[in-house]
Order: sequence, then C-alpha cells, then structure tokens
Amino acid sequence: MIRIAIFASGTGTNALELIRFFKNSKTAKVELVVSNNSNAGVCAIAKEQGVNLFLINNEELQTEQFVLNELVKQKIDFIVLAGFLRKVPTEIIRHYTGKIINIHPALLPKFGGKGMYGDNVHQAVIDSGETESGISIHFVTEHYDEGAIIFQAKCSVDKNETAKSLANKVHALEHEYFSKITQEQIELCFHSI
Ligand code: GRF
Repeated sequence: MIRIAIFASGTGTNALELIRFFKNSKTAKVELVVSNNSNAGVCAIAKEQGVNLFLINNEELQTEQFVLNELVKQKIDFIVLAGFLRKVPTEIIRHYTGKIINIHPALLPKFGGKGMYGDNVHQAVIDSGETESGISIHFVTEHYDEGAIIFQAKCSVDKNETAKSLANKVHALEHEYFSKITQEQIELCFHSI
C-alpha cells in the first residue's frame, strides 16, 4: 500500500475528497496531513477522518530536514499538495522527485507563480479577459508552478463572472479529477503495485 501525505493550509475540501477516495483504494491510502495552520479547516478534517496530523510552524518548516525526517519516519511514498501556501523545502522536493504533485486553480503556464493563489488567481484570469480557466495538476519542482503538467481540465469564464463564481467552477473540477489523477499517477510511479 502506497502511503500518501497531503500538505494543505486552508479549508481542505480537496484533502477531504482525497482522503475519502483513497479509503476505497487498493493501491494507496492517505496516512498523513501536514499543515502549517492550526486554524485551517483541513486540520479538523484530518482529525474527523482519523488521519494523522503533523502540524508545523513556519520556523520548523524552514529547519532543514525537520519535515523530511517525519515523512521518512512515517514511510511516506507520495506527496500531494492541496492548497499548501508555503514553499516546500528543497530537500523534500529532491527526495520525492516525480512523487510530489500539486493542483493549481488555473491553466498553467499562465497565472502561476508568486501571489497566484486563491481569489487572486481567479481575479487575474477575469481581468485579463480570458474566456477559459480550469485546473492544472503538475509535478512539483524547485521552480514554483513550473513542473511538468500531468493533467488539465477547462471551464468557461462567462461574461459576468466573479472571482467567487469562477472559484466554484474550478473547485468542482478539482473535486471531479484530482483524486482520480492522483491514483493514476501513483500507479504509473510504482508500476509493481
Ligand atoms: C484549490 O483551489 C487548489 O487549486 C489550490 O488551493 C485550493 C485549495 O482548496 N492549490 P481547498 O482547501 O482544498 O478547498
């Protein structure tokens, strides 16, 4: 069984989908939620769902090896970033090369990088007059939002679209695809399972 860790800082609706999905999977299970925000919805979700929670402060996150040691100790095989708002330490990205993915709420390579999270992304999409947005699931590399894209799905940006209405459409796509694509990626990564 492949052991997944989810990194998240916010509400955690994607984390909840992933946890539920992998409860019924023969390939993988979510064994750990890593969060830097004790008030985040995702922490309550981890507790309710019976998933171990590793709560870290920003200093611990920046302490070399601190989080990586815990991941290794918990025998984590694969990492999913689902709304993690801090930079993942380089040593984790190197240790999990090809085994760490992120979901971004827009069609990369546009609308990625610093400051492009939450409603900022959706507002930037609307302001630039795009007629489509969507989701991008991609590998995490040392360059923010630049890893190879694994999967994208699109939705329309309508005339009177607001950041909120677009966020709802994008969230619906995330919930539809993220778990399935994660499972496919895990199967590709660990062929023998
Ligand atoms: C999602 O929109 C995801 O694309 C982004 O962060 C958001 C997390 O949402 N990376 P939630 O906390 O899973 O609801």
